[in-house]
Amino acid sequence: MRLRRIPGIEERIAADFPRLVVADAERYKGRWDQYFGRRRPLSLEIGMGRGQFLNELRLREPENDFIAVEMRNEVIYAAAEKFGDDCPNVAVISDRAEYLEYWFGEGEVERIFLNFSDPWPKRAHRKRRLTHENYLRLYRKALTANGEIFLRTDAASLMEFSLTEMTNNGFFLKEVSLDFHNSPYFDGVTTEYEDKKSAEGPIYYGRFSVMK
Ligand SMILES: C[S@@+](CC[C@H](N)C(=O)[O-])C[C@H]1O[C@@H](n2cnc3c(N)ncnc32)[C@H](O)[C@@H]1O
Repeated sequence: MRLRRIPGIEERIAADFPRLVVADAERYKGRWDQYFGRRRPLSLEIGMGRGQFLNELRLREPENDFIAVEMRNEVIYAAAEKFGDDCPNVAVISDRAEYLEYWFGEGEVERIFLNFSDPWPKRAHRKRRLTHENYLRLYRKALTANGEIFLRTDAASLMEFSLTEMTNNGFFLKEVSLDFHNSPYFDGVTTEYEDKKSAEGPIYYGRFSVMK
């Protein structure tokens, strides 16, 4: 995703979305119910981009709570404009997924969505892939005993890597499709990236359950 730098974006986020974009997420580790004012199943989207998918999902599932972890403030601002600062079931953490364990206690998260994560095709960069075992270790900790990861990508190389890496590191495959949009698993909720890429070729999908 090509991004134009916006001067003062951090300050603008803090001023315009003080509740939605959580400045002190560590404070809620193990007690996100205090942030949301209720205890509901928690879902996480890592790398939400401009928030199209999460905005649709949180409207479809008002009974659930959602947290987005995204490292780029420019896209966070665009997503936050969709949600609004008083959105009852979304929180946004402006940071990198590497720090997940600072914000989530063990077994706190029901679902993790990885949508069109950067594929990092060069082998030398494989540790940056969001399904590398170093990340999977963090996800396993944060997920509940029945927790799941939902993966979508247009990159065959990332799909192939993820299938092996995840099944070798404590996850089992529950559903898979090499043509997600023509599969029974597709529910019509799409990401911004997916809308562009699905015109060019198939979308790959996997649903994985954690083994605890
Ligand atoms: C290719 S974009 C996909 C955006 C969106 N999921 C979609 O499908 O339209 C990948 C997104 O992941 C974010 N990202 C990449 N690595 C990340 C990390 N380690 N932690 C948090 N966000 C990350 C990027 O900033 C970018 O917004």
